[in-house]
Amino acid sequence: MTYQVIIPAAGQGKRMGAGKNKLLLELDGIPVLVHTLQVFEADDACTGIILAIHPQDEAEFNALINMHHLCKVKGLVPGGKERQHSIYNALKTVSNDGIILVHDAARPFILKKHIHVLTEAAAKTGAAIMGVPAKDTMKKVENGVVEATVERSSLWAVQTPQAFRVSLLVEAYEKAERDHFLGTDDASLIERLGHPVTMIEGDYDNIKLTTPEDLFFAEAILKKRKGL
Ligand code: CTP
Ligand code: MG
Repeated sequence: MTYQVIIPAAGQGKRMGAGKNKLLLELDGIPVLVHTLQVFEADDACTGIILAIHPQDEAEFNALINMHHLCKVKGLVPGGKERQHSIYNALKTVSNDGIILVHDAARPFILKKHIHVLTEAAAKTGAAIMGVPAKDTMKKVENGVVEATVERSSLWAVQTPQAFRVSLLVEAYEKAERDHFLGTDDASLIERLGHPVTMIEGDYDNIKLTTPEDLFFAEAILKKRKGL
């Protein structure tokens, strides 16, 4: 099953506190952005990458795309204020009605085998997302006081990629815009249509690099993958 992928990369990386876009930080001598793009570049099922970027990063990102021969990057679109706006800008440039993935540039450890299970599921049901079962006990807390222990067996931590039929995702984004709804992931926009979303079990290593300690976890994952 072939697919295109939207990669939002237009954030500021404020929580990382690196003084620049965290996607330019290097892991093993290669920027995080390039690690992520290389996964899709190397996947024969991926037919094109649309990258949402902040204008201030354009020159540097373009140089990286050329230097690392990332030929599948078909378009650079300007990002928006929130992640959802960045993705919508990218989605507006997608024309055919196949499968579209959305994957955060800040998740460089996604594996091809998981992408393929996800795209197959989205082709069948229209919408599929990747996640992992929650490991910790979860409690609902209000003003520092526990209100309830939430039944863990039904809780999943959600990651990207998320995969959709293009027409369904366009419908979901159009409705969200009309309703001024801002979600924290793409699937939440689909859920508002009443359309079911399939959960695919992924990998705990598929972390999002968000705060400085995530860089230590990232180094450990790289070492594990190299068999060190
Ligand atoms: N992103 C985007 N456009 C935005 C905000 C975020 O394309 N307006 C992208 C980021 O570049 C990242 C992904 O969405 O690849 C997930 O966002 P997050 O991890 O929150 O990254 P940042 O927004 O850059 O970080 P922070 O929230 O700490 O500033
Ligand atoms: Mg953010």
